[in-house]
Amino acid sequence: MGKLKLVLIISVLLNLVEGSRIINKTRRDPRPFPKGFLFGTSTAAYQIEGGWDADGKSESVWDHLTHNNPCRIKDCSNGDIADDSYHLYKRDVEMMRELGLDFYRFSLSWTRILPTSFPDKINEAGIQYYNNLIDEMLKYNIEPMITLYHWDLPQKLQEMGGWTNPHVVDWFADYARIAFEHFGDRVKYWITINEPREVCYQGYGSATNAPAISITGYAEYLCAKNLLVAHAKAYRIYDKEFREKYDGTVGISLSAGWIEPEAEKDTQAAFDAIQFEWGQYAHPIFSETGDFPPIMKERIAAKSAEQGFYRSRLPEFTSDEIEMIRGSSDFFGLNHYSSSILYKNESTAGIFEQPSFYDDIGAASYQLDEWPVAASSWLKQVPWGFYKLLVFIKEQYNNPTVMITENGFSTSTGLQDDARINYYREYLDAMLDAIDEGCNVSGYTAWSLMDNFEWMAGYTELFGLYEVDYNSPERTRMPRKSAFVYKEIIRSRQLDYHYEPNTNEMTIDEGK
Ligand SMILES: *[C@@H]1O[C@H](CO)[C@@H](O)[C@H](O)[C@H]1NC(C)=O
Ligand SMILES: *[C@@H]1O[C@H](CO)[C@@H](O)[C@H](O)[C@H]1NC(C)=O
Ligand SMILES: *[C@@H]1O[C@H](CO)[C@@H](O)[C@H](O)[C@H]1NC(C)=O
Repeated sequence: MGKLKLVLIISVLLNLVEGSRIINKTRRDPRPFPKGFLFGTSTAAYQIEGGWDADGKSESVWDHLTHNNPCRIKDCSNGDIADDSYHLYKRDVEMMRELGLDFYRFSLSWTRILPTSFPDKINEAGIQYYNNLIDEMLKYNIEPMITLYHWDLPQKLQEMGGWTNPHVVDWFADYARIAFEHFGDRVKYWITINEPREVCYQGYGSATNAPAISITGYAEYLCAKNLLVAHAKAYRIYDKEFREKYDGTVGISLSAGWIEPEAEKDTQAAFDAIQFEWGQYAHPIFSETGDFPPIMKERIAAKSAEQGFYRSRLPEFTSDEIEMIRGSSDFFGLNHYSSSILYKNESTAGIFEQPSFYDDIGAASYQLDEWPVAASSWLKQVPWGFYKLLVFIKEQYNNPTVMITENGFSTSTGLQDDARINYYREYLDAMLDAIDEGCNVSGYTAWSLMDNFEWMAGYTELFGLYEVDYNSPERTRMPRKSAFVYKEIIRSRQLDYHYEPNTNEMTIDEGK
């Protein structure tokens, strides 16, 4: 064969490979993650710890709700014992080692550390528990990432209005300072608050989260304002008092779904709905101008006036607050699960009660039946939505560093969880597309390390890489097939659709 001919053939072959990489996604060549990209898993205190009144811990809003109204939870269960991580944390760390995690995200229980809610009494047993967990992780080079608040407000503070009382700013700031003081020497990744939208809308607007209040169109907006100021105050405390000595990073985790316009004419409506759904938390922190998104301020003010209110149902920030909140996050913590399609026309005006958050949005959304669904009915698999969301965040907020702080898929019991594996692969692939597009994503956190108490769904929707046996007093944890797949992704630092794990034995790879 002539030399020229061979070169030609090789270049045609290379073109085919290159072309199919882009055009034919079903080929699925192994795909590396960027250098320095971090992998973790996530949990939250109430969902795993148990020990709800152990060693001086007092009642949170979730203890209160589940004890006083058990069947608000789908299976009438609670987190009294949950995964019993209060006693089994060493096994949890062993699982982190089996997976080869770079970091582990967990939350602190406010009432375990401060049983009176306030700094007047610090519970040494609570501090000791978290010290033990942190030290056990550090022994094996697993970085702790602490969420200060993952939904378990002290019940006492709720009795004083909780997140709708502006004094919550100081209550939260005091608690944050105590956590920084006790753990900041060893913990470099901090998240102030997990999913403000769920705290405020679900907790105070739609009663689908503790404290289960439904004063929509009003209470969730008070909550949003106070929560953002509280977050920023905690961030500024770290800046002033701890950053120099500890050199950590502090951010917030926002839950954000992608909202796709049904048709061209719905583009503006979808953009506006995003501003209401999670832009209300992102815009004050990550935009150049700060404050609530303009569309929210305008629309809620106008509707409030029409409805006979004397002032907007959306409270205003002072200019000092706007400045304090603007830029108050070292990274954009992103919790993402699913997407929806939105339209707006004459029929969508007046379908929601007035006033309400959804009436203020004034559009309707839905998901497609053809999207694969998890055990959670709201969780449909739409990987391209993840891609579009990441590109949107890059464009809206000047390409912030994004840390994926949650992403995952629920199933029922069973170790063969191919649906979860497929979800993880598709979403990681979409994330890599976004990175190729220039999005600055620094790490990925799978929700969740293990099955746990899934809030209003109790133990009926399971998100674990490890299955937990709730019938055994030992709460035995067993790796699902997805745990082996995630382990290989972390070990090889690449996404390989063709990898088939040997699920016989989970081991710890030494030398990490
Ligand atoms: C894409 O690749 C898959 C797997 O190699 C193959 O089955 C399929 O026919 C290819 N599709 C196209 C359009 O080339
Ligand atoms: C509004 O849009 C929805 C979804 O496309 C459609 O089903 C409905 O017929 C429309 N209604 C009006 C009044 O245009
Ligand atoms: C991405 O984020 C990292 C960490 O914050 C930063 O060092 C880097 O400069 C960023 N890259 C771009 C392209 O913005």
